[in-house]
Amino acid sequence: MIDQLKEIQQAFTTAAAQAQTAEQIEALRVEFLGRKAGRLNEVLRTVKTLPPEERKTVGAAANAVRLEIEEKLETFLRAAQSSGASDVPAQDLTLPGLPPRMGHVHPLTQVFDELMSIFTSMGFMVYEGPELENDFYNFEALNFPQDHPARDIQDTFFIKTPITRAEKHSFPTDRGWVMRTHTSNMQVRVMEEFQPPLRCIIPGRAFRNEATDASHEFTLYQMEGFIVDTDITIGHLFWTLRELFQQLYKKPVKIRLRPGYFPFTEPSYEVDMSCLFCEQKGCRVCKQTGWLEMGGSGMIHPNVFKAAGYQAGKYTGFAFGMGPMRLAMLKYGIPDIRLFMENDTRFLEQF
Ligand code: DAH
Repeated sequence: MIDQLKEIQQAFTTAAAQAQTAEQIEALRVEFLGRKAGRLNEVLRTVKTLPPEERKTVGAAANAVRLEIEEKLETFLRAAQSSGASDVPAQDLTLPGLPPRMGHVHPLTQVFDELMSIFTSMGFMVYEGPELENDFYNFEALNFPQDHPARDIQDTFFIKTPITRAEKHSFPTDRGWVMRTHTSNMQVRVMEEFQPPLRCIIPGRAFRNEATDASHEFTLYQMEGFIVDTDITIGHLFWTLRELFQQLYKKPVKIRLRPGYFPFTEPSYEVDMSCLFCEQKGCRVCKQTGWLEMGGSGMIHPNVFKAAGYQAGKYTGFAFGMGPMRLAMLKYGIPDIRLFMENDTRFLEQF
């Protein structure tokens, strides 16, 4: 009888080597372990007729064979299932493993990381601040006159605070809270918290109530930066910005400060950088001008220092604001700003 068991074991091993699909494995289970016509059960049925001594040993051996077959069937079944469709071969456990699927760092995050490492290496601290901001830090402290067009409903998302019972017939125009329109809101917050000398960058989101197209997003990213000390000049501003672009784009560039206007700087400049693509010969990207517009900057207005509570006339400083989305578009040749916010993996996988 023990021989018979060995035979069954052998037969199972041979048959199992052929079985690949879940169906074939189930057929094996029926053939060998099935209650009615299973080959093992046929043996077990005759065990009862044996003398007690033999019954013990044969019974134990039969049980061991049953356990072994059950275990193997289980393993085969799992392999067949994990290899997907039931008609594909059971998994070959000797194959090398599949490389794990890796995520990608968002191109914007990569640019922010790089900007932060460039600026921290120059002694700047990185500071973040609220996206929901009050009128004071977003406008008033930055020397925006009450009737400045940037406060206008077209650019700014104003937050409606709930109207109280007493106010319900008075239609109050609550202009107290806004979604910050720029990361410049942090200038005075940081100045209030720290005394000069100060070097700080502020990465973050800002919001503009405007239509989106290939170069406009209503949620935009900005990076503000500023320095406050006793003898800061436009020369420092110029050097810092050029150094920033050269490190970011890893090649020598020229920069140009064009007169501009921002309420919180005087003088104010638009920052241009020599076109990365045409050596200033003129191309589609720079609209044949040889220059790319990179952001705004200027020397911090005395009224901003005043709002921060700094002693009048004691300090000078420069400030600048950049759009990291634009920096990333130029760095990676991304044609449409909306791609940054869509999180389409076909786009993200390329970085
Ligand atoms: N806050 C400006 C904007 O959102 C950008 C800017 C311009 C920031 C000049 C500055 C600056 O700090 O000096 O368009």
